[in-house]
Amino acid sequence: MEIIRDLNQLSNWRQAQAKAGRNVAFVPTMGNLHNGHLDLVKAAQSRADQPSVLVSIFVNPMQFNDINDLARYPRTESDDIAQLTRLNVDAVFLPKEADLTPKSDAFTIRIDPGELAAHWEGAARPGHFTGMATIVTKLFHLVQPQVAVFGEKDYQQLQIVRRMVRDLNMPIEIVGVPTARAEDGLALSSRNRFLEEDQRRTAPLLHATLVDIAHQLRLGKPLDSVLETARTRLTSAGFKLDYLALCHPDTLDPLRTAESGILLAAARLGAIRLLDNQPVVIE
Ligand code: PAF
Repeated sequence: MEIIRDLNQLSNWRQAQAKAGRNVAFVPTMGNLHNGHLDLVKAAQSRADQPSVLVSIFVNPMQFNDINDLARYPRTESDDIAQLTRLNVDAVFLPKEADLTPKSDAFTIRIDPGELAAHWEGAARPGHFTGMATIVTKLFHLVQPQVAVFGEKDYQQLQIVRRMVRDLNMPIEIVGVPTARAEDGLALSSRNRFLEEDQRRTAPLLHATLVDIAHQLRLGKPLDSVLETARTRLTSAGFKLDYLALCHPDTLDPLRTAESGILLAAARLGAIRLLDNQPVVIE
């Protein structure tokens, strides 16, 4: 596996892939890799055109609206590199912060994700999606992949990236990969390691509740009362809910009645914020 730390090295690697006639599949991450990330890598590796797979690891300061959250974000570079080596990834790109977010200039050009960022994570974390979309755009320009792979766990992020490549005519196929879960259903996340023992025991209730809501809606129960019951259940268990809503799967606008869509939820257990989602299919 080639370990790439500077932009010239990346450019040489990219040219070598083109010369060899190989497409590039790109997996952008912030490191602290878990099985969810490894699923993204495997999805990239299983593409029929057998592309070269490049994983980036960059904790993007632009997408953190809380400086403490940025400071305590886990950084586990040598373990990440070992995991990617074991998976036979072709290259890992570890950019220097100064190469992607230079402090010497005002850095005023940003990607505005528009209406898709108005609700949910966008409302809870102002500036988060602008920072995410800006850095993903920069990485796309540098890596020039044919395909880029993202997790469905960050559903709103995935929709914004899909929309961004469409609206800005970026010639990149975006692939979404289902959420990897622990055996008890908790969605894997780098932040789970900060859960205390009792919080870890409570955490799977978020997923279980979303699955139950989807089931109740399929049985024909009214949306308002099903959501209300779910909110009470989560709050009584100790969650502080940021949002829990049934949304249109593409626009992410909240739906007012029970219909097919996506349930989006964010809830805190102590200081730890958990995100999850669940499709609802009503025939
Ligand atoms: O999902 C993430 O880890 C990040 O938001 C991403 C896509 C790597 C951009 O920094």
